[in-house]
Amino acid sequence: MTAPYSPDDREKVVTKVPSELRQTLKVRCAQLGIDMKDAVTLGVEARLARTDVLPLIDTTRGTPFATWLPTGLYGQLKEQCTASGLAYNQGIAQSIQLWLDQNPVGQARKSTGSARRLIVANQKGGVGKTTVAAGVAQALAERGDRVLLVDFDPQCHLTQQLGFEELAYKATSLTVHMLGETSDDIHDLIVPVEPDAFGGRLHLLRGCTDAFLLDAKLATTRHLRIREAALERVLEPLENEVDYIVVDCPPSLGYAMDAALYYGRIRDGESGQESGLIIPVQAEDSSANAYVLLNEQVESLKELGALIPYLGFVVNLYDARKGYVVTSSLEQWQSMGDPSVLVVVPEQKEQREAVRMKQCLLSYAPTSDQAAAMRTIVRSIA
Ligand SMILES: Nc1ncnc2c1ncn2[C@@H]1O[C@H](COP(=O)(O)OP(=O)(O)OP(=O)(O)O)[C@@H](O)[C@H]1O
Ligand SMILES: [Mg+2]
Repeated sequence: MTAPYSPDDREKVVTKVPSELRQTLKVRCAQLGIDMKDAVTLGVEARLARTDVLPLIDTTRGTPFATWLPTGLYGQLKEQCTASGLAYNQGIAQSIQLWLDQNPVGQARKSTGSARRLIVANQKGGVGKTTVAAGVAQALAERGDRVLLVDFDPQCHLTQQLGFEELAYKATSLTVHMLGETSDDIHDLIVPVEPDAFGGRLHLLRGCTDAFLLDAKLATTRHLRIREAALERVLEPLENEVDYIVVDCPPSLGYAMDAALYYGRIRDGESGQESGLIIPVQAEDSSANAYVLLNEQVESLKELGALIPYLGFVVNLYDARKGYVVTSSLEQWQSMGDPSVLVVVPEQKEQREAVRMKQCLLSYAPTSDQAAAMRTIVRSIA
């Protein structure tokens, strides 16, 4: 006799499942924006509806797994397990696997049409532009999109953090391409990033310190028809090879930044929110001042007819324990409404550890809160 269960009340259920299965569940829930206990509930309900024999999952090295299921649901699963000679751990493991099978991550966009362009920008240094650019690109690649990350900062932090050498000074670089001083293939600057972890879908266009000269050179180069389109001219041929191009910008104003902002503008035939700016900020007053400057630069590009959408703020390095200035600043960002706050990223150790290890955050700490935040950004903008 199966006991009735009430979906409104929950009971704690502790079983043992393999740690890889639990990790996959946590990542998938973050990708899809679903609470883990709801996913397990759906999995158990799906398991109860099955009368066929499901593949056995190796639970011999299972570790404790606690969740909250609607009261009585676990009792029903236990009855089903007993009737078919299965251990209860096996029943939960199969339920989780069923849910995973029924809820795949999003599919990559078709290769037709040009890539969406995400420009990660803020004149203020150290707010997390590189962290957010890298994390968003990883979250996109993880869910199946093909992504090109562009290191557009002469500091080359992105290139270094992902474990690559920046291009040698005076080598053929993005700057050299933008100035029209080479006929080399732009693909020569591109390297795959952790192909095993991201299925060969994540690539990096490496940075070079010569980007320090870009502002001055763009100012004096006469032959460029539209200075602001210098980045677009170089990256456009790559746009049909990927679904997203993510540009990590330097903390600066100037012609180079104009070119990056212009690249995120709405093109003919595009809807308003396909491409645009992601703006990492911190919950503090100086971030607000930097935003005013960014806004002015974006406004000035309107004179060229360039409308550049704001996709949203990412409030990074958030730690409410730092007090009133931090909490009230967050409220101010949130109260703006448009652009909206896409996510609040806590200040935690995993990001810095991943940088130290020269590894992608989403492969180094896939179940961290920061990795979950990157997936949240992707869900809200893409
Ligand atoms: N949420 C976070 N928690 C902990 N550390 C973080 C977090 N976000 C970023 N960091 C660390 O803070 C530092 C600055 O971040 P990042 O390099 O992304 O900023 P940036 O805006 O790109 O800086 P710059 O203006 O110099 O380019 C880095 O060491 C990074 O690893
Ligand atoms: Mg940076």
